[in-house]
Amino acid sequence: MDYLEIKGGKSLSGEVTISGAKNAALPIIAATILSEKEVTLTNLPNVVDIRTLLKLLTMLGGTVEYHDNVAKINNGSISSTKAVYEIVSKMRASILVLGPLLARFGECDVSLPGGCAIGQRPIDLHLKALEAMGAQIEIKGGYVHANAPEGLKGAKIIFDKITVGGTENIVMAAALAHGTTTIVNAAREPEVVQLCEMISKAGVKIDGIGSDELTIEGTGGKVLEFEETEVIPDRIEAGTYLCAAAITHSTITLNKVNPEHIQTSIDKLESMGCRFDIENDRITIHSPEALKPVNLTTLEYPGFPTDMQAQFMALAVFAKGESIIEERLFENRFMHVSELNRLGADIWLKGNIAAVKGVERLNGADVMATDLRASSALVLAGLVAEGTTNIHRIYHLDRGYDDLEGKLSALGADITRKKEQS
Ligand code: EPU
Repeated sequence: MDYLEIKGGKSLSGEVTISGAKNAALPIIAATILSEKEVTLTNLPNVVDIRTLLKLLTMLGGTVEYHDNVAKINNGSISSTKAVYEIVSKMRASILVLGPLLARFGECDVSLPGGCAIGQRPIDLHLKALEAMGAQIEIKGGYVHANAPEGLKGAKIIFDKITVGGTENIVMAAALAHGTTTIVNAAREPEVVQLCEMISKAGVKIDGIGSDELTIEGTGGKVLEFEETEVIPDRIEAGTYLCAAAITHSTITLNKVNPEHIQTSIDKLESMGCRFDIENDRITIHSPEALKPVNLTTLEYPGFPTDMQAQFMALAVFAKGESIIEERLFENRFMHVSELNRLGADIWLKGNIAAVKGVERLNGADVMATDLRASSALVLAGLVAEGTTNIHRIYHLDRGYDDLEGKLSALGADITRKKEQS
């Protein structure tokens, strides 16, 4: 197992190029199941989660060629519709194959993903929506067995709660359904928008893209032919580098980023004293000597993203004054708090609200990564902690950050990947 050794105190400078968005790439890869022809996807991030989903496609019988951030996927040869526990237990986003497999083949078995470090993360809303579209669902032996021998039927789906993965699964299912599906209270994340645009370019009429109500006219079982699709820039990776600049009082430039997608992070950073020069897909951040505290509440897009909560917590730890951070999406997404406190942070937690008192200094220590974004908060803290911070269990980071230590080293950080002594 690898760990990251960070020697804090270096300021950053220069430019960093943002990779494709993991959370946009995953549903797009799942959507290729809706086609029997080869599909080319470009700008895929080089992260473990992408390789896991591509592996799942090959286990189903699809063929995948993947190198240099480009995948050529041909799912014409799929011979199995069973997504096994071995893969789904590694990555819960594997549940995204449920909608497209059921839509194309009329039946599938997908292992139940179970909970994870940030919360229980049920899939009840995905299943309820598929049932409304005529699927018969049975949970047995840890698997979702889904059947729709006559094909899925269009339906009006009203999500009780906004769900990104649920919206994506139902958009994919509805694309091949008989009749029209309306999704009310749909997620509006840029990743959902890209999925809808890809399916719409393949000839499926989708109204309301980017809004909270989507209307999808299904093809009645006819498979799709996709154009080559370039994955959008990763807004969370971009936000994380902005936070890296802010916490180290640095000026850096991000390339290949969509500023609109990270507006809430930019607004919060401005309120903390950072300034921005924005030109097309380039953002330069100038950071102050001392950050002001921040108050934020995580919400669905276009609100402040839960995937940036941990990184802003790291900034708040180092700000002058007291910040309040409220997590509304996941019930257990504060695993980084105790690790940040081990570095000398002063964070007090009550339920889903954290009160963060800024401290003058952090001291390097051994800390443990618990989930993807919590891990990146520890990296940010490590960049400013005095002495050495060793971050263990970094396989979480490898799931979602493309070459984090390479990009940070190029910006001037002292960060090295090392092997644990066993
Ligand atoms: N929920 C339910 N029932 C469902 C589905 C969701 O109760 O059937 C709840 C969840 O438990 C959670 C809330 O609804 O409390 C929102 O969950 P959502 O379904 O929107 O999340 P997701 O699709 O599982 C995606 C991202 C997450 C990101 C969330 C929220 C991917 C692959 N994952 O998860 O990203 O935090 O949306 O924006 O797109 C990450 O990248 O680190 C990550 C966790």
